[in-house]
Amino acid sequence: MTDESIQRRTFLATIIGGACALFGVALGFCGLQFLLHPLRSGKQSRKKQRIASLDGVSSDIPLRVVVQADRWDAYVHHPPGPIGTVWLTRDDSDLSDPSVRCFQAACPHLGCGIDYAADRKAFLCPCHVSEFSTDGSRRLGPSPRGMDELPVTITPPDKDGKRWIEIEYAEFMTGVALKKQA
Ligand code: FES
Repeated sequence: MTDESIQRRTFLATIIGGACALFGVALGFCGLQFLLHPLRSGKQSRKKQRIASLDGVSSDIPLRVVVQADRWDAYVHHPPGPIGTVWLTRDDSDLSDPSVRCFQAACPHLGCGIDYAADRKAFLCPCHVSEFSTDGSRRLGPSPRGMDELPVTITPPDKDGKRWIEIEYAEFMTGVALKKQA
């Protein structure tokens, strides 16, 4: 075997070895992404979600919104569906800069759905009659705290002049679950 053919073989072996190493790294990266997907999808549900237009919320009466999102069950992707319900309230005391607050509709006591009673201007939980003011604070009943509040962003006007309400949806532990954990 000549020196030249030995050099050529060495060169080819180096190229093939390098390509195999690169392929292995790419394969490992894809596998890691796949394995970590359920962990990352939990974070994705806390991304900002656009749930209503600012014009759609009145300062007279809170707006109930069913929040929709993509759902992941471990590695199985389900199309967008309801993941929870929130209440939006609007304050127009500064007309040039209206503010919106968002409250989780699950009662902090045992998780029942909270309704709005227009005649009392209050949020009411029908299960064990907890009552909350429109600012979410607890008025009466067994709920261990006021309604749980979610962060809200109002977007700047889009090309049609519309402003949108975006929230970071989250669920909170009920008072009973917290007691069990203590
Ligand atoms: S679940 Fe709402 S008061 Fe009990």
